[in-house]
Order: sequence, then structure tokens, then C-alpha cells
Amino acid sequence: MLRKWMVFGLSAGILIAFAGAGFGLTDDESELEKVMEKVNKANNAIKKGVRTPVAFKKMHKDAAKQSKEMVKLAKASKPIKEAVGRAKNEANPQKKWDELMDDFIEKSEKLAGTANKTEPDYDDTKKAFSAVSKTCSDCHKVFRVEDEKF
Ligand code: HEC
Repeated sequence: MLRKWMVFGLSAGILIAFAGAGFGLTDDESELEKVMEKVNKANNAIKKGVRTPVAFKKMHKDAAKQSKEMVKLAKASKPIKEAVGRAKNEANPQKKWDELMDDFIEKSEKLAGTANKTEPDYDDTKKAFSAVSKTCSDCHKVFRVEDEKF
């Protein structure tokens, strides 16, 4: 009887250890991943807002707010250097990173400027958003080598 309980206690202990390791894994995100998830959230909100002129009428204020958030996030991600070493076929990955980040920051600032006008224009905002989206994929092609969804 005593042994049975010991075995049970031991397996429960192992289970808890496994569960803990599992949680550890999901928590083991890089700093850049965390920022990118926020970037993605802002991006999706803006995308929704510029989908159609009707959506824009309803949601341009939120899109404008999120575009300001995007500028902040772009600036916050530039100094995170953890992905720089992952570049493939780049002679000077640090320089490339800075260029791509500067482009991301610049295009986001343009979008924020356009979207935050008193009477923002749908086509201008949509165009400015497309320019930002291009900077996402331009960088992911070089630095996010394992996955090119965005
Ligand atoms: C200058 C480089 C750069 C730019 C610009 C950039 N990203 Fe990323 N992004 C990365 C890198 C590098 C990773 C991979 C991070 C990792 O796995 O550690 C990444 C990862 C991601 C991820 C996955 C996060 C996760 O949890 O694994 C998403 C989503 C994402 N980016 C969305 C975007 C969107 C949307 C934009 C543009 C609005 C954007 N990124 C702009 C470099 C960039």
C-alpha cells in the first residue's frame, strides 16, 4: 500500500515537472517575438480598418491610433539585435538590419501621418499601409528565415 502511494506521488511529480517544462516553452519567447506579436496586432487592426471605404469610415480612428502604436513598436524593435546573426547571404547583416528597420520606421511614420489627418483619405491611407506591409515582408525574407508567412 505504501509503495503504491509512493509510485503515484512520483508519477504525479513527473507530470507536474513535464507540465512545468511545457509552460516554460511557451514562455520562452524572444524579445523580438514579443514585440512582433504586438506589431502584428496593430497591423491586423489597421488592415481591418482599410479593407473597404465603408470599413474605413467606421474604423479609421482605430486605424489611426494603431498606426501611432506601430511607429512606437518599430522604433522599439530596431535596437533588438537577436535576429541579426540569422541573415542569409548578407555581407553586412547589421547594416541591412538598420536599413530595413529605418524603412519600417519611416513608412510607419508616413502611415501615421496620413491616417491621423483630420479627414484622412481612404486611398492615401490604404497606399501608405501597403508600403508598411512591404517593409514587413522585405525584412522577413532576410531575417525571419524559418517562416515567410508575412
Ligand atoms: C527589420 C525587420 C523586421 C520588420 C520590418 C518586421 N519584422 Fe516581423 N519579424 C522579424 C524577425 C527577425 C522575426 C523572427 C523573430 C524570432 O523568431 O525570434 C519576426 C517575426 C514576426 C512574427 C512572428 C512572431 C512570433 O511570435 O513568432 C510576426 C507575426 C511578425 N514578425 C509580424 C510583422 C509585421 C506585421 C510587420 C510589419 C508591419 C513586421 N513583422 C515587420 C523582423 C521584422
